[in-house]
Amino acid sequence: MHDDIRTILNRIAAEHGTPCYVYFLDQILRRAEDVEQAFEGRFAVSYAVKANPNVELLRRLRPTVPMLDISSGGELTRALEAGYAPQELSFSGPAKRPEELRRAGDLGCEVVCESTWEMDQLNRMAAERGEPLAVLIRINPSRMPRKFGVGMAGRAGQFGIDEEELDPVLKQLERWRHLRLRGFHVYSGTNCLVPEAIGENFAILIELFHRFCTAHSLRPEKLIFGSGFGIPYDGAEKPLCLDEVAAAVCPQIDAMKNNPLLSSAQCVLEMGRFLVGPAGYFLTSVVNEKRSRGMEIRMCDGGMNAHLGACGLMGSVIRRNWPMWKVNAVGNQPTREYWLVGPLCTTIDTLAYQVQLPKLHRGDAIAIGSSGAYGLTASPTRFISHPEPREYLVLGNGGGGEIVDISETRSPLMQEAFCDGA
Ligand SMILES: Cc1ncc(COP(=O)(O)O)c(C=O)c1O
Repeated sequence: MHDDIRTILNRIAAEHGTPCYVYFLDQILRRAEDVEQAFEGRFAVSYAVKANPNVELLRRLRPTVPMLDISSGGELTRALEAGYAPQELSFSGPAKRPEELRRAGDLGCEVVCESTWEMDQLNRMAAERGEPLAVLIRINPSRMPRKFGVGMAGRAGQFGIDEEELDPVLKQLERWRHLRLRGFHVYSGTNCLVPEAIGENFAILIELFHRFCTAHSLRPEKLIFGSGFGIPYDGAEKPLCLDEVAAAVCPQIDAMKNNPLLSSAQCVLEMGRFLVGPAGYFLTSVVNEKRSRGMEIRMCDGGMNAHLGACGLMGSVIRRNWPMWKVNAVGNQPTREYWLVGPLCTTIDTLAYQVQLPKLHRGDAIAIGSSGAYGLTASPTRFISHPEPREYLVLGNGGGGEIVDISETRSPLMQEAFCDGA
């Protein structure tokens, strides 16, 4: 861990307390710019709000990231609150409720249709409104490469229209005459660290776009490539090299643009964790110590309730220790093996097992890296009613960076029960 980051995390733990999440804004913005630059303008970047929906974070992202993908009415509210225009939003998600579809359509968001039922609903609403609505169709490909952390394509699933079912849908587009098909959306899988596999996935997506657009003489304005760019979650994994991904992907995009039907399509990379994940840390402190049957156990003030992913419960097949540091350790201290648990009354509340860390005592703070995405809002924070972690944004670089409290409070009642309940 870089000394500047350690200094700030130390300061936050000491002055503001734990458990909490800390996000480094400069690093997030730099990652977005790096993606943009690696592909030399071939893609616009869209941020998937589900990865980290904090409104203040979204507000600060807006000047750098032009589009958001939202997946609920709540995320729509957040995006608008953060200053995004409805036209800058795509709305994906497999179980959009009619009232969510209506609100998104009324506002002019780009709805990603995941089924013909959604197309029927939107078509009726657009007819009532007397204005056509631009939509995308999400395709569920019949295959995807291996090496993605989680795959959504190549099997039965709730996401999008199966590739095999799409021809008849496109043949009867007339049926939805109040909808204007603006393009396609695909999101096959997530968390891939292998550039060749990402390249292979793009080949599959591009072949789909070619095939369907040619067969139905469609000229899409927009093609959303769910990118699946991954981040390392343990010391053994290497960060994804954007230049290698660009080398695998750019020639394919250039070749795709030779097809006159696809030449003017705007290509979009939709991603969440790659932008925010590595720029976030979870801070928790040791509340109690115990030696049990030869194991050194440290009980912390935030565990699975505050960070489900670090406990291996967010879709991991095998539980592994995430990158973690004792934040107030100075120099190269000798380490020993610990079992780190959270405050819950369940054995699955394990933050780390057999992890090597410098000596840990009551009050010591531990930082868990790779925590900027799918952290707070992907965790069961109400379980056993411990205080909800706060959220801090660090502005500027260096140990002197400004710390902004961007915690979102719940209703006053919930605030009392979950935030202040020491
Ligand atoms: C439709 C869609 N877009 C984007 C994402 C973001 O994925 P990631 O954070 O892995 O980039 C997801 C994640 O599940 C998704 O379902």
